[in-house]
Amino acid sequence: MPTSKGSKQIKTIRDLPGVGPATASKLIDAGFGTLEAIAVATPQELSAAAGIPIATAQRIIRAAREALHITFKTAYEVKLERMNAKKITTGSRNLDDLLGGGVETKTITEFFGEFGTGKTQICHQLAVNVQLPIDKGGLYTGDKPVKAVYIDTEGTFRWERIEAMAKRWGLDPDEVMKNILYIRAINSDHQMAIVDELFNIAPEQNVRLVIVDSVTSHFRAEYPGRENLAARQQKLNRHLHQLGRLAEIYDIAVVITNQVMARPDVFYGDPTQAVGGHVLYHAPGVRVQLRKSRGNKRIARVVDAPHLPEGEAVFVITNYGIADPEE
Ligand code: GTP
Ligand code: MG
Repeated sequence: MPTSKGSKQIKTIRDLPGVGPATASKLIDAGFGTLEAIAVATPQELSAAAGIPIATAQRIIRAAREALHITFKTAYEVKLERMNAKKITTGSRNLDDLLGGGVETKTITEFFGEFGTGKTQICHQLAVNVQLPIDKGGLYTGDKPVKAVYIDTEGTFRWERIEAMAKRWGLDPDEVMKNILYIRAINSDHQMAIVDELFNIAPEQNVRLVIVDSVTSHFRAEYPGRENLAARQQKLNRHLHQLGRLAEIYDIAVVITNQVMARPDVFYGDPTQAVGGHVLYHAPGVRVQLRKSRGNKRIARVVDAPHLPEGEAVFVITNYGIADPEE
């Protein structure tokens, strides 16, 4: 098994070469308190945060990455990890089956669709459901309480919905709400800084679900039009990369939403083809398209996922949350 020289001793950021006590406290204050956080930082960020030269920052990042990635896994271990991947129930058996058991940890799941298709309701439901015991479809093992982070960019979070959804499972609504860490992201930079900060908070707080509802709205507003598309996508890709790292390192389910418009101009071909499209276009993850159906019924379809069964799932939005249709 290949190991890198000297990396065995590196257990905390204080062990990194070039990090003295003063630099260490600056890094911690700026949200780079773990090897993981440093490993995914850019040299520019570290340099600005700790007042160190770019070259030193590069050396620190390289050392942190080496310390974290010293061993290979066998393919068999990859298989076992995948088989042990944990799933969070959506509240609808149909939707869970479509997703291969529910929303998975170590993965980004994107729900995209028009307004009112249930993206935000699914987010609320998952923030509750992650707290359920394992045998009920959550991630609670009877040990530390499981927490969810809810990053709200549109101001559509409603504690009343959490209360109703918690009561559905016989959970104490106030306790459930205490385990949901809510934050309103005011612009795309703030949104990205929040995710950076989660590299410190997630392990301390036992965060197992991170929601970004919606992941795209600030980016769309700040980078309007075709001429800004490349810059917007570049920044969004960095954000998605950070979210993916967070999911992978701390065994977290990341759920993002993305409002897209159906194309009224398309008569031939696929009328559900979305304007804007899904954001996980080139990033790993599961993309779920939502459509409206009659009344409170909604239709979900997984796109571009060779490992999941084809087809659609019908679920309903009720007063007590996401569920299966009665008939
Ligand atoms: P945008 O954020 O606008 O893109 O929409 P969205 O996809 O997030 O939609 P959202 O999840 O907000 O779903 C809205 C739907 O949920 C509407 O059809 C509402 O009627 C329904 N809904 C919201 N709250 C309740 C409730 O308390 N009871 C019931 N029965 N339905 C609700
Ligand atoms: Mg919404």
